[in-house]
Amino acid sequence: MQIIRNASLTQRSIRTRPNPRLSAWSAAARSIASSSPASLFRNSLQPVAHDEAQSDSRNVRMLRMIMFGKPGAGKGTLSGRLVKKYDILSLSTGDLLRMHIQDKTEIGRMAKEIVAHGGLVPDELMLQVVTSKLDHLHNKHWILDGFPRTLAQGELLNTHLNKQNTPLSLVVNLDVPDDIILSRISDRWVHLPSGRVYNLSYNPPKVEGFDDETGEPLTKRPDDNPEIFARRLEKFYSTTSPLLDFYARLSQTRISPPPHRHPHQHPHQLAFHTKPPHRLMVQSISGTTSDEIWPQLETVLKEAFPGLKERVDSADIRRRHSLSDAIAAASVAASMPSK
Ligand code: AP5
Ligand code: MG
Repeated sequence: MQIIRNASLTQRSIRTRPNPRLSAWSAAARSIASSSPASLFRNSLQPVAHDEAQSDSRNVRMLRMIMFGKPGAGKGTLSGRLVKKYDILSLSTGDLLRMHIQDKTEIGRMAKEIVAHGGLVPDELMLQVVTSKLDHLHNKHWILDGFPRTLAQGELLNTHLNKQNTPLSLVVNLDVPDDIILSRISDRWVHLPSGRVYNLSYNPPKVEGFDDETGEPLTKRPDDNPEIFARRLEKFYSTTSPLLDFYARLSQTRISPPPHRHPHQHPHQLAFHTKPPHRLMVQSISGTTSDEIWPQLETVLKEAFPGLKERVDSADIRRRHSLSDAIAAASVAASMPSK
């Protein structure tokens, strides 16, 4: 029902104030806005059957991943860790929206109240926000954190990626109990410009109240109060969790529990689904602590994407691990006169 309702929505043209961090958005966003949303739904559930669609020009299997999970499950934290260690870019729609809100762009103005009250920003707006970034990422490994969040967004994203011949290759569902999440949120502090996440007990900043990398002050997210957080959790169950079935169908795998465990297998060790390499892989990871979740996540990535390289230059990591920074750097390079 949701898909049909959203398919009939009319497009709005979204204008942003010129902003160096967001400058790469507008052209691609306009091209998305000019296409009919109804047409974007066609054939979106057909898996792409070409092996080459999953590989780059060097025949390396590409990571195009959704980090899926409840609010507070650790999507941002784990994406950040992966990006720091491996040659991957990540994109958090929550971080992008917070940046827009802070910069008072048109998108930020439209999103501000919705985010503050724990609602969901309209699908078409989110698709523009995301695809204008993703279109810069051919031949790059990437992670989406916080998108898609509705069935309509899942369909739209799938159609968009299939058109580009860059289909998703992995969906990871972080399965963390609600009570654990609620206790984490009260301790969460964030560095707004980078999206870096801290927790007073789990990963505290080196100096209390300040970001490790820049020394700038940390803030509390306005939507992290108990009442709004409960609404976000409710929204996850009603609107976002059905996406797991959507991806299960797309991959034609079962999500959880894994199919057959060896009798001697450790309970936290992953059991992989057997599937052809070009298929979307969907994996649930359960746990309450980083010691349980992080090794499982790394195992999935290493085994399914053996071409993923660890980063070597830590200075380069700091400059470029944010997708926005990478895109801004590319735009600056393109505008420099050639020698
Ligand atoms: P968004 O920012 O994406 O919020 P969210 O999905 O609610 O997720 P969070 O960022 O709260 O949690 P997280 O899973 O990243 O956990 P974290 O790593 O911080 O979206 C905000 C809003 O924007 C939405 O409510 C909506 O209004 C709007 N929006 C965004 N995308 C949208 C879309 N696609 N469509 C429509 N609207 C959209 O971890 C949480 C805490 O736990 C941290 O303190 C962390 O340090 C700690 N922690 C993490 N892992 C562990 C661990 N293993 N052990 C102990 N502590 C841990
Ligand atoms: Mg987050």
